[in-house]
Amino acid sequence: MAYNYNFFKHLILGRRLVNDPIYFKTKELTAMEISKEPKRTEVLNFLLAYLKRDTTYLEIGTRNTADNYKQIKATKKYSVDPGVEFFDPTIDFKLSSDAFFKQLDEGSILSNTIKFDLIFIDGLHLAEQVQKDIENALRYLKDDGFIALHDCNPPTEWHARENYNYRQTPAHGYWNGTTWKAFQKARFNPSLFSCCIDTDWGLGLISKKHPLGKAIGPNNPFFEYNIFEKNRTVNLNLMSFEDLKNILQ
Ligand SMILES: C[S@@+](CC[C@H](N)C(=O)[O-])C[C@H]1O[C@@H](n2cnc3c(N)ncnc32)[C@H](O)[C@@H]1O
Repeated sequence: MAYNYNFFKHLILGRRLVNDPIYFKTKELTAMEISKEPKRTEVLNFLLAYLKRDTTYLEIGTRNTADNYKQIKATKKYSVDPGVEFFDPTIDFKLSSDAFFKQLDEGSILSNTIKFDLIFIDGLHLAEQVQKDIENALRYLKDDGFIALHDCNPPTEWHARENYNYRQTPAHGYWNGTTWKAFQKARFNPSLFSCCIDTDWGLGLISKKHPLGKAIGPNNPFFEYNIFEKNRTVNLNLMSFEDLKNILQ
């Protein structure tokens, strides 16, 4: 049987990758993150129940609503998604988050006096967009409401890559994007309380009122991944779901 040069080249490169310690460690960290409990839905429902009143929930970026949105227990809820990754005919606003907030400001959808109890930001996972989403969400958040952000705790720089489509990395298709940078910026803001629940790729929480954790000094002005990694626990105010329950009791 004849093998061509490319066949051997891929075999050798493949072996090198699998035996590479960084590749191996990344695979291990991916598996560890996937095994963490509870998932985002349980934490979000806990926050809504904690408020002990009728609640209004907004989710930016819903993809398949069966995965989270439909399981959220709020009195009123609204979904926003332009349908980039998944077509779901039940989405309330088939818009980007920018277009949604613009129309909200103009009073052409819902009401520009609406305030939400919980806003879950899980749309485009690039820092600049996430920061805009946080700023807009803060304007439409009740004083004692919560903002939650998915994917704030990427286990490696490969998970935190900018390019979603490039999968030839040790993280393969797993992608948290650069959301962590926008959350980090919120952690540097002295007018906000924040923490990150250490589960499901890091659920960042922000509040204007609840003492989730005080801001820290801006110790990573260029948002370098290695500095983030070294200071991960403090910079994210990383805590367990039990820690959160103790703070909010
Ligand atoms: C990670 S998925 C959301 C997952 C969902 N929140 C969940 O918990 O299962 C990201 C979604 O954000 C949407 N998206 C992408 N760009 C967006 C934007 N600019 N504004 C709002 N949503 C966006 C995509 O269409 C995709 O469905």
